[in-house]
Amino acid sequence: MKDDLEQVLFSADEIAARVKQIAGQISTDYRDMNPLVVGVLKGAFLFMSDLIRHIDIPIELDFIATSSYGASTKSSGIVRILKDLERPIENRDVLLVEDIVDSGLTLSYLRDSLLRRGARSVKIAAAFDKPTGRIVSIYPDYSGFEVPNRFLVGYGLDYAEKYRNLPFVGILKAAIYNKVND
Ligand code: IMP
Ligand code: MG
Repeated sequence: MKDDLEQVLFSADEIAARVKQIAGQISTDYRDMNPLVVGVLKGAFLFMSDLIRHIDIPIELDFIATSSYGASTKSSGIVRILKDLERPIENRDVLLVEDIVDSGLTLSYLRDSLLRRGARSVKIAAAFDKPTGRIVSIYPDYSGFEVPNRFLVGYGLDYAEKYRNLPFVGILKAAIYNKVND
């Protein structure tokens, strides 16, 4: 799999250290709030599982799944909920955990939807932030790493469902996705 990468951007150790810092900040900010930590499937599951193991205050978990890009590297702009939350979220402080923010369409849709359902607050933790890809103005409250406007894989990020299990993150060679899209 590593041969399919143009460059590794963040090693497993670098990611682990940064995730630990973010968890510390979250533990401070949410003390006595019993936040509901909501992972956006599937991409966020690695980040979420690492993150919550370093959060040292009581939290509850839930998951939501949105439509993916499919075998494309560009967002369709249409967000669908494929799997919804299991419990009501009225008056809950929700922390949405996402793998990467690109156009921002997914998170702005999800944030609005959770606020409409009565969440008291909705904040965002993203492992990676691609600010130059932004179409709607939304910025993560907690962000692991700022990344260039390239297509990345690893640490939960996929291309056509592959590469999620790489413990590091890198830039996918363009030849890999050009081959499929042609
Ligand atoms: P947005 O709605 O454009 O912000 O896209 C967010 C979703 O697109 C993320 O949750 C990812 O699933 C996917 N995505 C965006 N950029 C990348 C990337 O570089 N690699 C893999 N998936 C990505
Ligand atoms: Mg995602």
